[in-house]
Amino acid sequence: MARKILVTSALPYANGSIHLGHLVEYIQTDIWVRFQKMQGHDVHYVCADDTHGTPIMLRAQNEGITPEQLIDRVWHEHKADFDGFHVEFDHYGSTNSDETKRYAQDIYRKLRANDLIETKSVEQFYDPVKEMFLPDRFIKGECPKCHAKDQYGDNCEACGATYAPIELINPYSAVSGAQPERRSSEHYFFKLSDARCQEFLSAWTQGTQCEQTIAPLQAEAANKMREWFEAGLSNWDISRDAPYFGFEIPDAPGKFFYVWLDAPVGYMGSFKKLCELKGLDFDSYWNKDSQTELYHFIGKDILYFHSLFWPAMLRFSGLRTPTQIFAHGFLTVNGEKMSKSRGTFITADSFLKQSLNPEHLRYYYAAKLNGTMEDIDLNLEDFVARVNSDLVGKYVNIASRTAGFISKKFDGEVAKAEQLAGCDGAVLMGEFLAMSEQIATAYAQRDFGRAIREIMKLADRANEYVAQQAPWALSKQEGQASKLHEVCTVSLNMFRLLTLYLKPILPKLAEQVEQFLNISPLSWSDAAIPLSGKINDYSHLMTRIDPKNIEAMVEANKQTLAPAAEIVAAKPAISPIAETISIDDFGKVDLRVAHIVNAEHVEGAEKLLKLTLDIGEAQPRTVFAGIKSAYDPEKLKGRMTVMVANLAPRKMKFGMSEGMVLAASGDTPGLFVLSPDCGAQPGMRIK
Ligand code: MSP
Ligand code: ZN
Repeated sequence: MARKILVTSALPYANGSIHLGHLVEYIQTDIWVRFQKMQGHDVHYVCADDTHGTPIMLRAQNEGITPEQLIDRVWHEHKADFDGFHVEFDHYGSTNSDETKRYAQDIYRKLRANDLIETKSVEQFYDPVKEMFLPDRFIKGECPKCHAKDQYGDNCEACGATYAPIELINPYSAVSGAQPERRSSEHYFFKLSDARCQEFLSAWTQGTQCEQTIAPLQAEAANKMREWFEAGLSNWDISRDAPYFGFEIPDAPGKFFYVWLDAPVGYMGSFKKLCELKGLDFDSYWNKDSQTELYHFIGKDILYFHSLFWPAMLRFSGLRTPTQIFAHGFLTVNGEKMSKSRGTFITADSFLKQSLNPEHLRYYYAAKLNGTMEDIDLNLEDFVARVNSDLVGKYVNIASRTAGFISKKFDGEVAKAEQLAGCDGAVLMGEFLAMSEQIATAYAQRDFGRAIREIMKLADRANEYVAQQAPWALSKQEGQASKLHEVCTVSLNMFRLLTLYLKPILPKLAEQVEQFLNISPLSWSDAAIPLSGKINDYSHLMTRIDPKNIEAMVEANKQTLAPAAEIVAAKPAISPIAETISIDDFGKVDLRVAHIVNAEHVEGAEKLLKLTLDIGEAQPRTVFAGIKSAYDPEKLKGRMTVMVANLAPRKMKFGMSEGMVLAASGDTPGLFVLSPDCGAQPGMRIK
């Protein structure tokens, strides 16, 4: 019987681009959904942008636009990225929707009616300039442990210490730079420490709640939960004070839901939209006794929200709880955390812009995914090798070596089933078919790596068969036409089954193959139907990855760095001067105190002065600076200034320029060379 299944992926934040780390999740979910759809189940896959919270509000201010304008722009970017990777949502919404607002407020009212909401005064840092409370991430200061400067309010990147923001030495607001004050305000809490919640969650997470027939969490996740329980559940602060971009809490003017309260409700909101579009019965999916299945795919970092807060919210507002939560690990690139400076913080868009094939990444991720919370590594060299060898070398090869004969020698017609009966190939085809169930099981368990291993074993068998039968030799021998017909038909039948098995991972390629084999869209129940009649001419199906494109992609990610997510600028509502950069980006510029040893006119140069600069190296540097209009060279001699020391040398008409001096200019006339305070020595680093 067709199961009714609702599937979600976590809702990406609307304050940054989709990167290859995110795609682990969306590709994993999409493969599973496509597989379940191929099984004939009634599956709906929804997602949305997660649009609320302080970072999005501040980023919009920083760009001089409204939060609504920002999230609208990002929605289109995200949607294009997902389309580009063939992630096919049935609906992609936004948490900033009427539906999400209504359900969030409903749930809240029910929790309140159940006496699970309380208020308490909370003391927090407040930015007196920006007139807002500051989330931990927006407070910086000196680490109380190792005294590293400019550390975040919750942890130190230098020594790894964690602490409360109030422990920071000389804290300052990362938003305005102002010294924050401590102020109290009333906060709303979801009483998770209530005995009813504790009791419910400890049973639910371990799968012992009476309506539960399967464990909702992976074993490692269930163990984590147990540890968290032992540490004790505290009440959850669900409110934030204005100004905040989010939904107002009913009957609490100036108080907003914390973004994580409405984010998972976005699953419902997005599904509600789909129900309206498709005429589905929303309540039958969400009511307490729903017989439908609900699966959330998430990263391991947000397990806490999905396996504690979310089920409790649902339960105590009278709704159904998730059937299962599938958590995956984090992506590393070349064995390390993704890094902007190494160019391995790769955006989805930059991958597509290099004309790399999105199905290659889908294949590689699938090969690495096994349904656990282990991290997965994208090794770029291995990626190229694996895709080229498996997909082009093994899989596509089967068709490219046999299809031509059917077209040329048999007028495109494959051999009839009767002709194949009893031949060696028929036995092999039987073995291919017999694997259908095992491969389906691997997919269902999200062990895509195992599915691919089984599929590639079959591809190896098919290639051995083609090599042994050598159709290219048969085609030249007298009286072998029927054998040739048989061998090529058997090969294409195997190719057809491999395509069916790979279709959840390679949906576009499968479409091309369906067109080529002249068959209707493959679903799992078609496995046993052999090819018949005419096929179309084979045309090239897939190209090898050129490592040059990978290099270019990494290079591109080094240059066009994504803006830092957390910290946004100091001045409110000015139009941005340049893209926000991270401290790492800034650190790439080597600024030095330079002593102007000599300055002189250059013969024939209208604008340039030739400067000789000492920055503490053995040889002074020569820099040609366009400051002739503003400075008499004599006046510059002996002065200190600031130079960019790691700028690539540039050959100019008058000689080589080995850096750049910094000068200010604006709309009003004038050009002003910078100088450090007295005492600075040549060669000192400026940071
Ligand atoms: N907005 C929240 C989720 C709300 S769900 C109601 C969020 N957004 S996110 O953009 O930071 O992440 C979206 C998903 O991508 C999360 O499941 C997260 O775990 C996943 N990933 C983000 N970076 C990742 C990697 N580097 N590797 C694998 N998955 C990663 O969290
Ligand atoms: Zn420290």
